[in-house]
Amino acid sequence: MLVMSSFHAWRTGCFSVTQKSAVHFVPTMGALHDGHGALIQAARQAAGDDGHVVVSVYVNPTQFNDASDLSKYPRTQDADVDLARCCGADAVVFPTSEEMYPKGVPGRAEPSDYGALTRLWEAAHRPGHFDGVVAVVRALFEATNPVAAYFGEKDWQQLAVIRRLAALEFPELDVVPVPTVREEDGLAMSSRNVHLSSEDREGAKALYSALQSVVRSDGADEEAQKQGELLEQAGHRLDYFAVVDAETLEPKRMQGRPGRVLIASHWGGVRLIDNVALEG
Ligand code: PAJ
Repeated sequence: MLVMSSFHAWRTGCFSVTQKSAVHFVPTMGALHDGHGALIQAARQAAGDDGHVVVSVYVNPTQFNDASDLSKYPRTQDADVDLARCCGADAVVFPTSEEMYPKGVPGRAEPSDYGALTRLWEAAHRPGHFDGVVAVVRALFEATNPVAAYFGEKDWQQLAVIRRLAALEFPELDVVPVPTVREEDGLAMSSRNVHLSSEDREGAKALYSALQSVVRSDGADEEAQKQGELLEQAGHRLDYFAVVDAETLEPKRMQGRPGRVLIASHWGGVRLIDNVALEG
């Protein structure tokens, strides 16, 4: 497996490969865990022996609306290389900000307006976040020119935003969703979980239990309301706990359309997000 410090080096180093084979791309911000591993394995499986699986690791400053979240973001380069290798990647690229933003890293990325997708939930609580995600993912797609790119359902709204970006600007690209990988007690794996103390780690699993209660209930909206109150009594500070249309992310759902239950909570100094499917 190749480890590269720029896309330029990757294109040059893998010239014959990237010219001839289909590129399957997994963008990440590093601190890789088994959730990222599942994306890389899915890419490997789809790529087969002939395709080329490339993983990028870049902590994108423009998508952090909180400076301390950016400075605290875990960086584990050697372990990332090992995990990518084990999961079947052909190359890992660690691009610099100079390469990702040749004109300099903007204080705020150009706004992207995808209606409700860039207005509700994460967008409402993290101003400018999806502008940064769209800007960097567009640049990453341009740098890698993939046939397929893999994104986790863990970040359901991000997945919806990327699908829209691809539909508008990269119509040939296949955006492949990968189910959320969880710890044994249900907590969704996340690079930020390392910041939880062992006590807070215990309380963090309540998020997934609450989501499951909503899925099992007969009245999803009422149950979300009830579970939200219970979480707040236990010390969670919720940004939202909502039952939405899985595709549009609008809170109004129509009979027969798939739904999604979305949650974001501040707990133990960490902002946790999660979601589960709700049958239509
Ligand atoms: P990052 O948080 O590193 O996540 C990279 C990819 O891994 C995303 O598609 C995310 O949804 C997926 N992922 C994270 N945890 C997961 C889990 N427990 N199960 C399954 N997939 C999981 O998301 C980003 O980086 C950035 O916004 C990025 C797209 C790279 C743009 O900077």
